[in-house]
Amino acid sequence: MIDGKTDPGTALALDDSAREQMVETKITCPFLGSAVHQNILAVRGDAGNPLASIEDVRQLGNSGGGDLGEVLALFASGNHALMRGAAGRLDSKVPDGLFSLELPGSQGSHPGHSGILQGDPAVPGSGRLSEADFARLAARAVNGLIKSAAGPELQGGRGPCRGTAGP
Ligand code: HEM
Repeated sequence: MIDGKTDPGTALALDDSAREQMVETKITCPFLGSAVHQNILAVRGDAGNPLASIEDVRQLGNSGGGDLGEVLALFASGNHALMRGAAGRLDSKVPDGLFSLELPGSQGSHPGHSGILQGDPAVPGSGRLSEADFARLAARAVNGLIKSAAGPELQGGRGPCRGTAGP
């Protein structure tokens, strides 16, 4: 506790509905959203301004025995170092060791997204599930697999979260 405020690094105890709401509107990445949903990745900060530990995501990424976590830590610190400020924009520096889980509106979010989880990639809190966009993707499946003949530009490019924004 600092100046009567809870330490932003403290893990939050969230009830199921608050957690679901946060995942749907803010944590619009199938990796990070699932990790929070399954309580594998602790949410810190506060419910209106959720943060996570870079070290937690590093350990999670490396838990399969490889070094994926080193890449995740790089992107978490590079693209998600700003959290929600007083005006509701992502313009406030996160505390050391943490990154913001507000994905729409962040530097890692971009217009080339699939439309499935993000609404407007420029607007914080605008995530939602679009069944229509999911159906558009699923309709391309052949024998349960989706392949694209398009080049990397159309596939979204470099890394699991596409474009310059990735990972
Ligand atoms: C620290 C780790 C990660 C961060 C900070 C992160 C961040 C993000 C962000 C900001 C988006 C929205 C991007 C957009 O505009 O399209 C996103 C979407 C996504 N992420 Fe991640 N991500 C992480 C790890 C991962 C990993 C490890 C995977 C895959 C194994 C993954 C898969 C995806 C996918 C498939 C999307 C959806 C893209 C779309 O809808 O077009 N992410 N992530």
